[in-house]
Parts: sequence; C-alpha cells; structure tokens
Amino acid sequence: MATAPVIDLNHLTTSPTADEALEQWYKTNPPVSAKLPNPWDVSRSELYSQDKWQAPFAEMRAKAPINKIEESGYGPYWNVTSHKAIQHVEALPEIYSSEVSRGGITIADPEWDSDFQLPMFIAMDRPKHTGQRRTVAPAFTPAEMRRMEDDIRRRTGETLDSLPWDRPFDWVDKVSIELTTGMLALLFDFPWEQRRLLTYWSDWAGDVELSKAQELDEFRRKILFELGAYFQQLWNQKLNAEPTPDLLSMMIHSDSMSHMDQMEFIGNLILLIVGGNDTTRNSMSGFAWGLNAFPDERRKLQQNPDLIPNAVQEMIRWQTPLAHMRRTAVEDHDLFGNDIKAGDKVILWYISANRDESVFERADDIIVDRENARRHLAFGYGIHRCVGARLAELQLKILLEEMHERRMQVNPTGKIRRVHACFVHGYREMEVGLSKY
Ligand code: HEM
Repeated sequence: MATAPVIDLNHLTTSPTADEALEQWYKTNPPVSAKLPNPWDVSRSELYSQDKWQAPFAEMRAKAPINKIEESGYGPYWNVTSHKAIQHVEALPEIYSSEVSRGGITIADPEWDSDFQLPMFIAMDRPKHTGQRRTVAPAFTPAEMRRMEDDIRRRTGETLDSLPWDRPFDWVDKVSIELTTGMLALLFDFPWEQRRLLTYWSDWAGDVELSKAQELDEFRRKILFELGAYFQQLWNQKLNAEPTPDLLSMMIHSDSMSHMDQMEFIGNLILLIVGGNDTTRNSMSGFAWGLNAFPDERRKLQQNPDLIPNAVQEMIRWQTPLAHMRRTAVEDHDLFGNDIKAGDKVILWYISANRDESVFERADDIIVDRENARRHLAFGYGIHRCVGARLAELQLKILLEEMHERRMQVNPTGKIRRVHACFVHGYREMEVGLSKY
C-alpha cells in the first residue's frame, strides 16, 4: 500500500458529510412544490426517497414511453422510459451527446459560469472519450479481476466476521460502505487506514442535488481540491517508483497519460472513485432489502449457491443504482415518432427500462434464476457502458459467496432511509439483524 500523504485534514472533525449538509440545507430551503406537480415529472426527488417511482414509470411505458416534460426543477426534458428506446439512443452517440459543454450526463446542468470544470471521460464524446477510456480499461480485464479476487475475498470475510449477531446494526455503513470503500482502496492502492476519505470525498463529489445550493457547491469545490492535492502526492510517489499493479500506477505509466493534463487526470480519478462508490454500495444494500422482500427467492438462493452469479445480475437489475443518465441532442432527430430538437435534454431512465414488462416478465419481482437478468441496462449500453462492471459484479458475487459460507441471512428491521435524489438510487441507512439458515 502507498503511504498516506501529508495533508491537512483537520476540518474533517467539524465538517458535515454531503448527506448531512444537504439535509440541513433542505430544512431552511424546503422544495417549492407546484400545486399540482406533473405526475410524469419523475425528476422529483421525493418519488425516490418515498419509493413511489414505480407507478409513474409503468404508466409512461404503457401510454407514452417517450414524452416531454415542459416544466421541472431542472427545466424541460424528455423522458425515455422503455428498454428498446434507451438502447436505441445509446447506440447513437453522434446524435445524443454526453459532452459536458453540451449538458453532460445528469439531469442537473453543469455550472456553465464555472472555471472549475473537471474533465471526465464519462462526459466526453468520441474521439476523446475513446482514448481516455482506453487508459483505465486494462485495470478491469478478467485477468486483473482474478488478481484482485483473493484480496477482495479476504477483506469481505473480515468485514462479515466483525458484524454483531446479537443486535441490530446499520447495513449501509457496516457492510455496503465498508466493502465498497475497501474495494476502491485496493483498486487504487490507497492508504488503507485512510480509506474512508474515499467515501467522504466521493459523497461530496457525486451528489448532483448539491448543485441546488451555492454554498454547498462552493464547499464541494474545496473538497475536490483537497482530493486533488491528496492524489497529487500519491501520484508523485508512484511516478518515481517502479510500476505496481494498481490503477493509479497503470494510469501514470500508460502511453495515453502523456496526452492527459493534470486536471484530466484528477477528473478521471474522481470519476472512477465516484463511479464505483454509490453504485456498488447501493447494490449491496439493495440486495439485503430486496431478498428480504422475496423470501421464497432468498430460500432458493440459499439452497442453490450456483445461482449466485445470476442473482447478482438480477439484484443489480432490480435495484438499478443509477436511475438515469442524460444525453443532449446535437441535431434535430425523429425518435420513434417524437420530434427531438437540437439542444434538447434527453433522460434515459434505466430504472424504468429495468422494469420494462416487454423484456422482463414480472419485472417488479426479484427472480434469482431469471433467464434474461443479464439484459438489464443498469450499467448502460454502448460506448459508455460501465467500465467497472466486472469489478462491481466480482465484489457482489464474493459478498454473496462469503455470506453463504457463514450461512448468514440479513433481516432488515424496517428502519430505512432512502437517498433523496433522482440520480443515485439507494439507501442512506438500513437497520438489519442477522440470523443463521
Ligand atoms: C459508467 C453504472 C460500478 C466506473 C457507468 C454508467 C452507468 C454505470 C449507468 C454510464 C453508462 C452509459 O452512459 O451508458 C454502474 C453500476 C455499478 C457501477 C450500476 C455497480 C453496480 C462501477 C465501478 C467503477 C465504475 C466499480 C470503477 C471503479 C465507471 C466509469 C464509467 C462508468 C469510469 C464511465 C464509462 C465511460 O464513459 O466510458 N457506470 N457502475 N462503475 N462507470 Fe460504472
């Protein structure tokens, strides 16, 4: 492991987490709700924090899978809700752009006036996207996954063995965050004792809701500089050392790095940390919640661990940790009879595609041996399809296998707090107890 950089992190004892800061901000700035909100305006965060998003999406898929919302907290946008239409849009990256200067990848527009724009390849179009993605892709090959597997398994086992069997605890903090952060620390060769910094930074960097409040956005900027300074020191350590088999070293010593400036390097690092953080975390929480809601399926899995790889896909489908990605049309285009204009904001609702009944029978149910679970779109599709998918799948598979080893069953008590956002779809807190089967 790399040694911990020397950097002043004293503010951590007094600074709130992104979640706490946002919650505080909402208390003094309650959302101005329209008298009659458009039921199809699925950008409303409360639909997700109250788990009420299923009905409007089902209605849209049945009546108008592609439709335009003229007014919302994020301005006008197109809803794209069916599996087929989302794949279609993602297969046309020349028409539907991810480029940050056109609008980027979330329903919240980037801050146009900002001179602080970190370049990340998820928010780039070809050809730039291709070159930068190529820099990190080698860290996620099957061979690399085999190399990381033992370490991930060992850390996962240690985490599970530290859990209390005799009293309730928060699964999100003790398992989902802990394992995800550990996985990222291994990937980056990040100083182990300080790994929770990755969680702290990533929560600040990745929360699109924070852009609603200027003061929070400013603090976020400070956090990003701090993260940049920390990684700068790690980078220097690795720059002057022999290459090591971790992502940081791989990026530094790759050919395409010579074309990447420092801001791009930091931007892409943040992308990898944020990209792997909330998503994997919320898959782990989602599986605890979801299997408990379908006890027959849980029993099926407990009795037949060979189903674990398929169950991992099914739980990622069912949870869909990122509810949407956004594209911006670069030219006028007909999308299955809908008149999309250049500049229009097009929202691809993966969360809806993964419940599309024309593709997934009984789509709202978890079926651990569902034959086509792999057709889910939770990792996206096309040239931007998640580069870390294999790592996330590996971590989840190992978690289920190690739980099976210990005959460990997770029983949520019902005390739960969900993320209040239309981008990250997940859980802030979930109280659970453990039992043996
Ligand atoms: C891209 C989901 C785990 C890194 C994406 C996209 C989605 C996604 C939806 C955008 C796809 C598109 O636009 O078509 C997920 C989910 C995960 C997960 C659901 C876990 C269950 C990870 C992990 C990492 C990662 C573990 C890395 C450590 C990235 C990166 C991109 C990306 C770098 C940008 C790819 C590109 O633009 O070419 N992910 N992700 N993700 N993800 Fe993941």
